[in-house]
Amino acid sequence: MKKVLVIGSGGREHAIVYQLSRSKQVGPIFCAPGNAGIAQLAECVAIKDTEVEALLAFAKEQKVDLCVVGPEAALNAGVADVFREAGIPVFGHSKAATQIEASKEFAKELMAKYHVPTAAYRSFANYEEAMAYVRERNTYPAVLKYDGLAAGKGVVIAQDEKEADETLRDMLVGEAFGKGKVVIEDFLQGPEFSFMVFVNHHRVYPMPLSQDHKRVFDGDKGPNTGGMGAYTPLPFISAEEEKWAQEHILQVVADAMVAEGKPLTGVLYGGLMKTKDGIKVIEFNARFGDPETEVVLPLMESDAYTVFHAIATGEALETIEWRKQATVGVVMASCGYPGAYTKGAEINGVADFDGLVLHMGTKRQEDKLLTNGGRVLMCIAHGEDVRHAQQKVYQEIEKIHCTNLFYRKDIAHWAL
Ligand code: AMP
Ligand code: GLY
Repeated sequence: MKKVLVIGSGGREHAIVYQLSRSKQVGPIFCAPGNAGIAQLAECVAIKDTEVEALLAFAKEQKVDLCVVGPEAALNAGVADVFREAGIPVFGHSKAATQIEASKEFAKELMAKYHVPTAAYRSFANYEEAMAYVRERNTYPAVLKYDGLAAGKGVVIAQDEKEADETLRDMLVGEAFGKGKVVIEDFLQGPEFSFMVFVNHHRVYPMPLSQDHKRVFDGDKGPNTGGMGAYTPLPFISAEEEKWAQEHILQVVADAMVAEGKPLTGVLYGGLMKTKDGIKVIEFNARFGDPETEVVLPLMESDAYTVFHAIATGEALETIEWRKQATVGVVMASCGYPGAYTKGAEINGVADFDGLVLHMGTKRQEDKLLTNGGRVLMCIAHGEDVRHAQQKVYQEIEKIHCTNLFYRKDIAHWAL
């Protein structure tokens, strides 16, 4: 039986561990650091996702057959590089390849060079020059993106000169962000969706399309979050559009990264938008999306170990099989999120949920399950179509009780 180490501690990693646990080839699964839900399927190890040397030492000691890296911070810390160097098969990009997510400027330059459709842009390291450009451009909204990992806070859609000025000061002069550049780009309009693919160098295998819900409140109101829910499939992207995006965006970028000497070995996440001028790239991530992965990965019918191992090592896969079912996932978050919130509230009824509950931020204290983060649980139900899956998830979610959790009541509304 194969031994696997999964790195990370969120709902995305719970989905990965869940899928691996269904493989007939997989024996023990370790997860560093994991969470209370993951602990039901894997042995959680108290090592942080960026403690590269400690992770490697653990993997060697346990003689793991495969390591799967979840978070971008771990990839950016070079976890996959040291595992690969040590000869341990690892699903996850090198630090160099992770630039596709970690540097907006790198991603924009790559898209320009290889003719991948995206918003026109300029990048600046200097506040005065950036502001001069904003004034000269004089078109709002203006999209301002900090060039570096900023935990979801790096993008501001400025509605006027004053907001652009304040944002650029924060990003380029203040201490809040660090020493980066800012990309200023055109504002695009249209529905956004997530196109994730498994990639090993030139080989690209698509996953079902999904859509995230970034705003905190119903009706897409309130501040942006890490994502309040997701669903699949999408009614507004045709099979032809999906094929076009795979060929002209994801495959082109996979090939481009090989040409640039930074081959991809893991997941490429295309944050895409269907504009009136066609499908364009909003951003790339170098990892599974969260919460999209929680609705997509459980639909994988192929053996997860075979898939992850082949992507890690470059073996060819014929195809990856997916169950053709609709899935809706609703996030339960701590009251106050994405602002300040408290932890440690007791959660009851999770075992009564008929479906799949993936843990995003929980911990166990004796026999109690407690909230331990902003996003806490992702509740998932399948159905013959999105409407049925939605009905099911909202019927079941009522069985989960916690005084400090809330959730959106309209996840998947774009599909109905
Ligand atoms: P990102 O971190 O690049 O995904 O940006 C966060 C969010 O900002 C995206 O999900 C979009 O909703 C929005 N956004 C980013 N770039 C643009 C753009 N060029 N035009 C319109 N909205 C954008
Ligand atoms: N759901 C968006 C992301 O993972 O970045």
